[in-house]
This record gives sequence, C-alpha cells and structure tokens, in this order.
Amino acid sequence: MLLIDGKAIAEQIKSELKTKVEDYKRRVGKVAGLSVIIVGDNPASQVYVRNKAKSCVEIGMRSEVIELPASVSQADLIEKIGELNRNPDVHGILVQQPLPKHIDEFAVTLAIAPEKDVDGFHPENVGKLCIGRLDDCFVSCTPFGVVELLKRCEIETEGKHCVVVGRSNIVGKPMANLMMQKLKGMNATVTVCHSATPNVAEFTRQADILVAAMGKARFITAEMVKPGAVVIDVGINQIDDPTKKTGKRLVGDVDFDGVSKIASAITPVPGGVGPMTIAMLLANAMKSFERHHGLKPS
Ligand code: GUN
Repeated sequence: MLLIDGKAIAEQIKSELKTKVEDYKRRVGKVAGLSVIIVGDNPASQVYVRNKAKSCVEIGMRSEVIELPASVSQADLIEKIGELNRNPDVHGILVQQPLPKHIDEFAVTLAIAPEKDVDGFHPENVGKLCIGRLDDCFVSCTPFGVVELLKRCEIETEGKHCVVVGRSNIVGKPMANLMMQKLKGMNATVTVCHSATPNVAEFTRQADILVAAMGKARFITAEMVKPGAVVIDVGINQIDDPTKKTGKRLVGDVDFDGVSKIASAITPVPGGVGPMTIAMLLANAMKSFERHHGLKPS
C-alpha cells in the first residue's frame, strides 16, 4: 500500500518554484506577488491565510495580506479588488471564503480580473477548464493539487473509472472536469455522486480512483471501496478526541484505518491533499507572473 505523502510532494513543488522565482528575478528583476484579502475574523480562515502568506515568503514571492473588517461594504471590497487588478506588481488575487452574509461571493469573484484569479473561481477560468483550455486558465487549487499528486505518484488514470463524491464549485466539479480531460488531463471515465445519490456505495465500489470531497467525517468506509483502489481524501473535519490535549483531532472524509487496509494507495489527513492546495496556489501565481512577463522557465 502506497501512503501518498502530500506534505513531501508539496515541499518538492515549493522548492522547484523557489528556483523559478530566483531565475526570473535574475532575468526581469521582479518577483511574483500574491495579495490575499481576508474579511472578518473567522479563525479557520485566519489560519489558512497565514499559511498561504508564509508559504509565499518561503519561496521568495511577495505576499500581502489585506485585512478588512466584517462590516466592510461589498462596494468597498470590490473597490479594493479594482486597485489590485490595476497594480502591475500584483499577479495573484485571492479573497478568502466564506465572506460575511451581506456580501455576494459571486459578485466578488466576478470583480477579480480573470488573469489574476489564482483561485480559478472566475467563470472565465471555470469555462476554459470545461472546454479543455488548461494552458490558458487557472484551475482551482485543491483539484489541481490532486491531479499533481496522481501524476507525481505515477498513478495510471487513462481509461480508469474515477468516482468523485461531492459536487462543490471549489472541489467536486473542477475535479470531475480535470479527471475527464483528454489533453494534459487524466482521460478517466468519471462519475459524480452527491447528497441526492441513492446508494452511494454502489458507485464508490466501482471506482478505480475514488475522490472523497463531500465534507462528512469518515463517511467512506472499507465496504464502500473496491480492493486495490486509489483513494484520495479531500476532507478536513474536526472531531472530538478526548485523548488529545486540545480535545479535538482532524480527520478526512475517509475512514483511514479501515480503507487503508484494502486500498492500493491513499492520502492521509492531515498531510495528504491539504499541503498540495497551497503549493498549487503558488504555482498559479507563478503562472500568472510568467504570462504577465512573457517568460518561460530556462
Ligand atoms: N475557502 C476555503 N477554501 C478556499 C480556497 O481555496 N480559496 C478561497 N479563496 N477561499 C477558500
């Protein structure tokens, strides 16, 4: 059984990106810049944003975190995005979600220039992904990270049956799209299951590659998995664990203890898909910088 070490692979990607940052700095005298906007004081968002900024600095990119109060108006937030769109030193813009209830997330996504939308949430980028223009768009970082894990672990996907459980705009939908792509994609046969799918296990048992992204702690049990399947766990759920000092512990959407006994490969939580999300965000910001300056790696 292969334990897919997302943490180590993400570190490898970050080290490759650091070399690129240094190479481009020598060639054009500039480094890529990522601006992250956080609205309000959601503790989980604060941790995510801090980790994104830290990783940027680690690889030598410029990072800026813009903290706005939860009371900020939608108009003021969109005005701030407009400033970043016009700033040539900003190559990537990310507005951390969720946003306060009075702000329309879709209106905010539309305000980000598609060529700086390193989250890959803008409909122009989503549309380009759907029609297979992968070189020409940004892909949502988590599914992009899953594809990179599969490639780097040399897991065969061509002609395989991939079952994605979950249909979110951030993970499930782009994941299914990437897995079915022919060019530079995975060339798999794809099934998507969701909360209205009766008897999910009937589908998951057919998966050669199973991607769990429905946000339910340890939902996928061993009986739902075909022996020898590759299992990718996108879930991050906090559960009570009185044996821990904090009283809590992170688990995925997969029952790791049971499923790891029959899978041929599996990602752990934490240390699987999570670290890849940030690595791919940095990769997207570098791609934006390359497009802006007409650069190719030397
Ligand atoms: N909230 C949870 N995941 C994400 C993400 O990938 N991007 C943004 N902007 N917000 C998130």
